Amino acid sequence: MAIQRVGVVGCGLMGSGIAQVCAAAGFTTTVREVSQDLVDKGLKGIDKNLARLAEKGAITSAVQSEIRGRLKGTTSLNDLKDCDLIVEAIIENLPAKHELFRALDALCPPATIFASNTSSLTITEIAAATKRPQRFAGLHFFNPVPVMKLVEVVRTIATDPAVCDELVAFGAKLGKTAVRAHDSTGFIVNRLLVPYLLDAIRALEEGVGSIEDIDSSMKLGCGHPMGPLTLLDFVGLDTTYYISQIMFDEFKERRFAAPPLLKRMVLAGWNGRKSGRGFYDYADPANPKAMKF
Ligand code: 3HC
Repeated sequence: MAIQRVGVVGCGLMGSGIAQVCAAAGFTTTVREVSQDLVDKGLKGIDKNLARLAEKGAITSAVQSEIRGRLKGTTSLNDLKDCDLIVEAIIENLPAKHELFRALDALCPPATIFASNTSSLTITEIAAATKRPQRFAGLHFFNPVPVMKLVEVVRTIATDPAVCDELVAFGAKLGKTAVRAHDSTGFIVNRLLVPYLLDAIRALEEGVGSIEDIDSSMKLGCGHPMGPLTLLDFVGLDTTYYISQIMFDEFKERRFAAPPLLKRMVLAGWNGRKSGRGFYDYADPANPKAMKF
């Protein structure tokens, strides 16, 4: 069965990006949020992204309207019942994901593939809420979704290998390179990225270098597009703290333990770019200023 109609649940930062790339790749895409306000906010972000692409000449205005024509927002789960694939990108909360997938399982035909964009929860445990663990996999995208070229296809011990093959092919149609990972907490990218980010905070705590110098070192010394502390602000300190707690709980290894400074910044509400303050102050977003601790 070739995937033609895609449902995306959640139209926040990740869900809206996923919906945008699915519609841009030619899939009929329905994105669901819990309120009309959130649907409108998500679609507005997509419209802005598409308008920017049209302004840059990356797409014509005809293509822009075609993409938008393939994309529908809804507040009703019922509108996803005819989808071949449903990608979940809601809050990282297991009971919320279970409730959603239980409802979708009752609604959709047995052939529909379910996928979660979770970055840290166990796919096996999310799939346990359904009667289709063989048609359930992880599909982990990266922020910003329209730009980042990777998607992780995550297979549990119960996932049918043919479903993973379909998802790899689907990823390629989105213009992404799909890598295959087992359902090990953090998959491939966060398994490697999270200890690196936490180590950058430990280096700052230990006075190895300043915020700017730690960031410049990894940008200029290793060719990374962003230094680790800038990347932490971009991903969200609350998100990284949450992922590190899940990974520490799973592996009980110090490299996944949240440094005290990260915990205190999250407790203070300094969650990075989205909250206006993290390792940098974003009062002037075009010119972030390193914080003094
Ligand atoms: N949506 C769509 N397009 C965007 C965008 C967004 N949010 N942000 C930037 N872009 C586009 C720009 O329009 C621009 O396109 P162009 O080259 O065609 O003009 C291009 O990306 C480059 O943007 P900028 O020139 O504004 O800025 P940069 O060169 O600094 O690139 C960046 C921005 C792509 C975010 C780059 O800094 C980067 O790759 N950073 C690292 C991001 C990263 O590591 N993401 C993964 C995070 S981990 C994760 O998501 C996993 C989770 O589980 C935690």
